[in-house]
Amino acid sequence: MGLLCPFIKKEPNIRLDRFLANQGFGSRSEVQKLIKKRFVKVNDKEVKDPSIHIDPLKDKITVEDEDVEYQENFYFMLNKPSGYITATYDENYPTVIELLTDEPIKDRLFPIGRLDLDTEGLLILTTDGQLAHRLAHPKWNIEKEYYAIVEGDVSKIDFSPFEKEGIYLKKDKYKTKPFKVKVLSSSKEESKILITVSEGKYHIVKKIMQSLGHPVKYLKRIRMGNLKLDKNLEIGNYRPLTEEEIKNLKNLVNLE
Ligand code: URA
Repeated sequence: MGLLCPFIKKEPNIRLDRFLANQGFGSRSEVQKLIKKRFVKVNDKEVKDPSIHIDPLKDKITVEDEDVEYQENFYFMLNKPSGYITATYDENYPTVIELLTDEPIKDRLFPIGRLDLDTEGLLILTTDGQLAHRLAHPKWNIEKEYYAIVEGDVSKIDFSPFEKEGIYLKKDKYKTKPFKVKVLSSSKEESKILITVSEGKYHIVKKIMQSLGHPVKYLKRIRMGNLKLDKNLEIGNYRPLTEEEIKNLKNLVNLE
């Protein structure tokens, strides 16, 4: 007796106020007020002590008689606008986190991968460190697809060798991983392309296109792995990922 079976996941035990704050019911002090006002019940009993410990997997917690559904992690898709920095804190620019205005747990979120200040499009924000780490890790070769407008006419370029070999970026002394380009339209002034890379190196798309003599004028990420940017999500808006989307992302990197 007393031995812990190594195959049983240790169930979390957490202070009530911390648990409710994590679940998005406000800051620790706001949640403490809720508890003091007797709005919170644990297993159908009113509680007044915010420091009691509960087990979110076993105990029934209600706030104003509404069940609190335990969610371990949070996942959002943001359609990032230009002018926001992909960071949780910055002295000079507004951060992508600031766009999640209505999200009580926004201070726990961090972005997966980076988009440049002037890049738009799909950014995943989560509290799930393990998923974030894996999706960003080079080992998993997660594809990132971008829509780009570049200077000049690219219609004469044969992009097919890059699908096997990547390209050598002289300035960086760096050989990229293989990447794919599909030309959507081109004129003398500019071309519209889809470009799919599978690495997270800083400015990778801009560097590739610059090295081919066609600097990027506009860049927007439209896909990451199997997750596409929701066409109904307006620029600057966000939404939670669906269960299906979370499952598909986790499958990509052998989680669950
Ligand atoms: N490549 C870039 O050059 N910029 C981005 O923001 C993302 C990929």
